[in-house]
Amino acid sequence: MSTAAVDRLTLRSPDDWHVHLRDGVTLALVADLTARQFARAIVMPNLAPPVTTIAAARAYRERILGSIPAERTFTPLMTAYLTDRIDPEEIARGHAEGVFTASKLYPAGATTNAAAGVTDIRHIDGVLERMQAIGMPLLVHGEVVDDDIDVFDREAVFIERVLAPMLARFPELKVILEHITTREAVDFVRETGPGVAATITAHHLAFNRNAMFVGGIRPHYYCLPVAKREQHRQALRAAAISGNPKFFLGTDSAPHTVADKESACGCAGIFSAPVALESYATTFEEEHALDRLEGFASEYGPRFYGLPLNEGTVTLIRSPQVVPELVATGDLRIRPLYAGETLAWTFLQRS
Ligand code: DOR
Ligand code: ZN
Repeated sequence: MSTAAVDRLTLRSPDDWHVHLRDGVTLALVADLTARQFARAIVMPNLAPPVTTIAAARAYRERILGSIPAERTFTPLMTAYLTDRIDPEEIARGHAEGVFTASKLYPAGATTNAAAGVTDIRHIDGVLERMQAIGMPLLVHGEVVDDDIDVFDREAVFIERVLAPMLARFPELKVILEHITTREAVDFVRETGPGVAATITAHHLAFNRNAMFVGGIRPHYYCLPVAKREQHRQALRAAAISGNPKFFLGTDSAPHTVADKESACGCAGIFSAPVALESYATTFEEEHALDRLEGFASEYGPRFYGLPLNEGTVTLIRSPQVVPELVATGDLRIRPLYAGETLAWTFLQRS
């Protein structure tokens, strides 16, 4: 990375190790916003119905590629949605055929389209054993869903009750604890063996839980896992800029329509794709760590996955941009992170 001129930032092309691209008209609207900034992305499988088969993943990959301009070089990395009854053969064959890069564990009911997820981790021990044997990563939405657990404690309790025992049963399993939000998660990942890593979103670095309640209820700051108190955000920021390769970029950009967000039962998700790199750059600059951004965004992820680093570069310039209020087409309206606000950095190009 070169920071010779502080008004221009050039990095090896980054990847987004966790993104929701949706399907249909939403896919058509959002896919290129990820593809313009990132060379590859781990695409979440929580469609309705979820992506549980090789055929479904191949077809979805084609639809994603069909939503991106032909001149763009972008590789969607597909994931398999684990269910109680998932067939280990299908997962292993999909991995061997280069269709499934990883499998995703959603605890049943934890979030958007997670109803078909796993009701008890023991139900998938067979597939986890198989994944451990073939070196296929497990991506984890790390929250328990028990009614008696406070919503702000769900990640920490998951680590203690589900993740740690699972790793004791499968010590060689490659695991990525996704979109971490707590000091407990940072500590756990740091202290656990080299097969365990974590992604960190731009939004969990940028604000704490107070953002949901400034002058009233702010549904556009609601996501899962929900943002925690400031001490946790500070732990995430320290991890992101630490240079520890166990922590890398995953936006969890999760578009929902304005109507679905501004509702009596608003959906969880923050649409950060339009300004993802600008947001991370802002955090790293605030932490006087712009020289650490390239490792976090472009090196540690591929190394953990055993994939080559990208060859190209991205450039951001220090030029103020006013983020649009909406990303829209026809009746579809989605509000991006930082809507209406001014950011110091502007994404220029990926080449
Ligand atoms: O905020 C979130 N939105 N968290 C998730 O885990 C899922 C995602 C979505 O798909 O909307
Ligand atoms: Zn997600």
